[in-house]
Amino acid sequence: MAELIVALDVSDRNEAVEKIRLIGPDVGFYKIGLELFTAEGLDVVKAVKDLGKKVFLDLKFHDIPRTVERAVRSVGRLGVDLTTIHSTGASQMIKAAAEAAAEFGANGPKILAVTVLTSMDQADLCDIGVKGITPAEQVSSLAKLAISSGAHGVVCSPNEVGILSKSFEPGVVFVTPGVRPAGAQVGDQKRVATPASAVADGATHLVVGRPILGAPDPAAAARAILDEMNSVSR
Ligand code: C5P
Repeated sequence: MAELIVALDVSDRNEAVEKIRLIGPDVGFYKIGLELFTAEGLDVVKAVKDLGKKVFLDLKFHDIPRTVERAVRSVGRLGVDLTTIHSTGASQMIKAAAEAAAEFGANGPKILAVTVLTSMDQADLCDIGVKGITPAEQVSSLAKLAISSGAHGVVCSPNEVGILSKSFEPGVVFVTPGVRPAGAQVGDQKRVATPASAVADGATHLVVGRPILGAPDPAAAARAILDEMNSVSR
């Protein structure tokens, strides 16, 4: 069954803890991104874990293999459940991340690969020297590189998840942001999918921020999304 991850896009630890309390027991997984992590550091990860929740630490590592390996080991010691690296760090870096995660056994962090940032288009790819290939082709080839190098899954947009999930054996993790319940405000997301269609397309985890954090009743908003996710049989 697909899991809901709420993006803790807030600027301080107290607000994060308050949001988790408001959302209540139905949500067991939270994403801490660069904003909250650079503001609060390790304390915020510990605070979320102390509330009994799983943590997706989204810091998108991209460095030489040795540095990424050591960073993943630190993330593993924190008890983080999911973490991200850039697949453009290439095979050796991805393998180093996966090997460091494996040292923690079944409780280690799962390594998710970021392929092409959704903010980038064909012209941006060209600017960084990736020519004669569409963003979709680049996403697909980087996802294959990442999984064959030991990553557990990929972060992908709702319009990539259908194709990608069919390209890999079962067991690969597909984490999809850009999810909006029907009728919800889209905000700055350009390509959105409903919770049901993302799950039907093969997403194993949905990341949702504003539709829950900004709702008058965050617990009810989360429950409605979970009900919609659970209505899809896969
Ligand atoms: O508020 P919203 O539901 O749009 O939040 C989605 C979360 O997923 C944010 O933390 C955002 O940074 C993240 N994300 C995204 N699109 C990507 C990758 C990450 O929206 N391609």
